[in-house]
Amino acid sequence: MSTVPVTSTSKRTSFVEGLRCRECGNAYDKAPIHVCEFCFGPLEVAYDYAAIGKALTRAVIESRPASMWRYAELLPLDGPPAVGQASGMTPLVPAHRLAKRLGLKEVWVKNDAVSYPTLSFKDRVVSVAVSKALEFGIGTIACASTGNLANATAAQAAAAGLPAVVLIPYDLEPAKVLGTSIYGARVVGVKGTYDDVNRLCSEIAGKYGWGFVNVNLRPFYAEGSKSYAYEIAEQLGWKLPAHVVVPMAGGSLVTKVGKAFGELEKLGLVASPPKRPIIHGAQAAGCAPIVDMVLEARDQVRPVKTPTSIAKSLAIGNPADGYYARQTIIGSGGWAAKPDDDEIVDAMRLLAETEGIFTETAGGVTLGAAIRLIKDGRIGKDDGPVIICVTGNGMKTQDPLVGKLPTPALIGPRLNDFDDLHATWT
Ligand SMILES: Cc1ncc(COP(=O)(O)O)c(C=O)c1O
Ligand SMILES: [Zn+2]
Repeated sequence: MSTVPVTSTSKRTSFVEGLRCRECGNAYDKAPIHVCEFCFGPLEVAYDYAAIGKALTRAVIESRPASMWRYAELLPLDGPPAVGQASGMTPLVPAHRLAKRLGLKEVWVKNDAVSYPTLSFKDRVVSVAVSKALEFGIGTIACASTGNLANATAAQAAAAGLPAVVLIPYDLEPAKVLGTSIYGARVVGVKGTYDDVNRLCSEIAGKYGWGFVNVNLRPFYAEGSKSYAYEIAEQLGWKLPAHVVVPMAGGSLVTKVGKAFGELEKLGLVASPPKRPIIHGAQAAGCAPIVDMVLEARDQVRPVKTPTSIAKSLAIGNPADGYYARQTIIGSGGWAAKPDDDEIVDAMRLLAETEGIFTETAGGVTLGAAIRLIKDGRIGKDDGPVIICVTGNGMKTQDPLVGKLPTPALIGPRLNDFDDLHATWT
């Protein structure tokens, strides 16, 4: 298994100065906290970028093993990761057939459907959060989840030898529940929406002192998402894309994609002067609080009380990072779109049939949104590279496809049975 190498140019293992409030700038020491005690703003990891700039070059990064940890200086651990050493560096797939169908010149799929170990981009954030929890000496790992985070948290806690408590809405897809229980986690189904689960978890975190990866460990956890964007730039040959279409639930991933591209520019790691990427956001029509903020030019989140989409992994009615997600999108010159359930399924099928990639419903949302953005002229026919962010695996969300795909032809075990069938094929 790969580990983070200590190179001659990078002896220091942590470049984190501490935590800082995004709103008032108040500084805090590294600790499992996530809210500013003065203004209740979210806390963000603060780095010593001057020192990182000296330590981290393209050559140093390229000399390291193919995992998210090749960007260790830009991730918030004090030492090597204790778990998830093999997470990240998923394929950036040149999608020629898909591009043709979309009428675009250059399309790439960043494919975290094959992420290690649990087949979604949540492996990245949890690798950081669980490793950080171990650095803090936390004894129990927990999370509030729409499914993928549950899988990743349970797996990585097991790998760390720590107990896990996972709280989910009671009506998640069976494969997501099974793919959590298998790791021996205590799984709690809550009769309510994700927002009910999240509220409950904030109270539990305060009372029980556990390490909730997306509550009290959130500032560290969220930084893991940046690796997805660093990899896109590196895999394009240290270039930033023209457009990137990102699925949104709480709005953290899209915000961190924007932050990561900005960091690469600041550190001089991408071609200069860089073409600033246009960042678009995608949510399902049945739960689109951030998309609606963009479409209606609103700063405030208007929570969706009862999400109705098949894209359960994105069904967060009151997104914690909604404000910053919209800022990232608008600030980049991007836009947002919300395909309905039929468009989501059509997009899942299109991606599978053109590129051989089976994404979960969230990927259908992303590609469905991209199709709308192309129709609306938000993504131009000659623009490129265009990145479609596929962040989860279709094997986990098969339920919405039942009855939508052709069933296998049924024949007897004789050649003439097959010949008869074959004769009907056009
Ligand atoms: C597959 C998938 N893609 C994207 C997201 C969105 O992530 P965020 O909450 O950071 O916006 C999620 C969140 O659960 C997810 O499961
Ligand atoms: Zn503050």
